[in-house]
Amino acid sequence: MKLSGKVAIVTGGSRGIGKAVARIFTEEGADVVITAREDSRLQSTAKQLGVIGFAGDVRREEDVENVVKKTLDKFARIDILVNNAGIFPEVRPLHEISKSEWSEVVDTNLTGQFLFTKAVIPHMMRNGGCVVNVSSDAGLRTFENFEADAYSATKAALIHLTKTWAIEYAKYKIRINCVCPGIVETDMTEPYLRTEADRAMAVAEHPIGRIGRPEDVAKAILYFATEDSSWVTGAILPVDGGISVK
Ligand SMILES: NC(=O)c1ccc[n+]([C@@H]2O[C@H](COP(=O)([O-])OP(=O)(O)OC[C@H]3O[C@@H](n4cnc5c(N)ncnc54)[C@H](OP(=O)(O)O)[C@@H]3O)[C@@H](O)[C@H]2O)c1
Repeated sequence: MKLSGKVAIVTGGSRGIGKAVARIFTEEGADVVITAREDSRLQSTAKQLGVIGFAGDVRREEDVENVVKKTLDKFARIDILVNNAGIFPEVRPLHEISKSEWSEVVDTNLTGQFLFTKAVIPHMMRNGGCVVNVSSDAGLRTFENFEADAYSATKAALIHLTKTWAIEYAKYKIRINCVCPGIVETDMTEPYLRTEADRAMAVAEHPIGRIGRPEDVAKAILYFATEDSSWVTGAILPVDGGISVK
């Protein structure tokens, strides 16, 4: 068991990639706290996986501090943070994006990661720790007709912040790494994978010849959360069936 004795917080852990991370971390012996806004789904996932669910909105600093406090009250330490919660906006060109749509994505996908990292770092400074950021291929390169500018901007910023935080906190034995998934089958991508034609197009994008499963990304995140990666910090790992090298 690679994570026995470790305490992990997984944001956006109620479904999709976050849920797969919570499952694999639990299988490896970690005590896992998952967080998300919708409490009923969060508690049902927590029960199913045998983890703890503390509801909260990553955009609200008081919610973030509350999740961290409750985790410390229960487990007295935090070793791993997976900054996974995120949203994908309605697709439209830049000149049609409203300020409120823009801000909602930035607040969730970027300010949320800042708030959670800021809240856990002082506790990790005692024993060391790991932060894994979930960015996207959309943060690494552009895609024609992608039309989700706020999303791309937040994911690119998270890649840069991974490197910035890695340098800043290496002296405290806190490692900060990042995964960049391609298209993974979750609620987020379901609207774009409804027809056979859409699905075939998505599959064709990936040189490996299939779209991703949440477990594909969870296994890469597990690597960054364990001692297997003890000499790795500031790394940006595409987990994308090869899209990023096309
Ligand atoms: N699926 C893909 O193809 C793909 C590709 C590249 C990167 N990613 C990234 O991977 C991460 C997970 O994506 P996913 O596909 O698993 O998405 P998902 O299935 O839509 O799940 C998103 C999770 O984030 C939570 N969440 C959303 N807004 C939140 C907020 N303001 N506060 C707290 N929790 C919030 C959701 O719960 P509530 O709605 O209850 O809050 C849910 O648990 C995201 O950062 C996404 O950008 C996904």
